[in-house]
Amino acid sequence: MKSLGLIFSARKAGNCLSCVKYCLDKFKKQGFETEFLNAYNLKIMPCSHCNYECFARPKKECPIKDDVKMMYSKIISSNVLLFAIPDYVGHPSGLYRAWFERGCMLDWGEYEKGILLKPRGYIVIGNITAEGDQVLHEILTEFYNTSHRPEAILLQAREYERDSLKGDLIEATEVKRRLDKLVERVLKKAEIL
Ligand SMILES: Cc1cc2nc3c(=O)[nH]c(=O)nc-3n(C[C@H](O)[C@H](O)[C@H](O)COP(=O)(O)O)c2cc1C
Repeated sequence: MKSLGLIFSARKAGNCLSCVKYCLDKFKKQGFETEFLNAYNLKIMPCSHCNYECFARPKKECPIKDDVKMMYSKIISSNVLLFAIPDYVGHPSGLYRAWFERGCMLDWGEYEKGILLKPRGYIVIGNITAEGDQVLHEILTEFYNTSHRPEAILLQAREYERDSLKGDLIEATEVKRRLDKLVERVLKKAEIL
């Protein structure tokens, strides 16, 4: 069994990375192999400079040469997925959006089996006073009509009297507790607990 973390922050090491690492450690303790993909180290392009190859029938290969294909292939070969997505100006980060829209390169069956049907956890970081709740909603809306909704939490730095720019949310005991619960719910879906 493999658990894969995906980090969609522009910076290398902030709240998204530390929260994902914290959770992956818990998965490891349950016998999972773990890996994370940090967008900081990857090239993720939005849909661009193409001819809608993904809408051709039969589907043609996406012509964009970046790391998104590799990301989807790792996702497809993992059993449990964990996403960390920051609120950037009231929306999921552009890196997440770019990666998500490129999912059109997958066949429906691949997308359903490779992502939708998998136990997944979403960690969204943003203050409600700065549309964090809308970001969470925007992400979950993509899955509203599927019977396999993911587990998700919104971490608001303000709730823990912290400044999210400092990137030290993981030091808050309550944040750890909420991540523990998220992992627990994902493990239940994976029928490990
Ligand atoms: C360009 C940019 C825009 C942001 N916009 C918001 C925002 O609208 N609301 C909010 O609560 N936080 C906002 N933030 C703060 C980030 O969501 C926060 O720092 C989060 O922890 C980033 O993830 P990281 O720590 O992994 O880098 C913004 C940060 C950046 C860099």
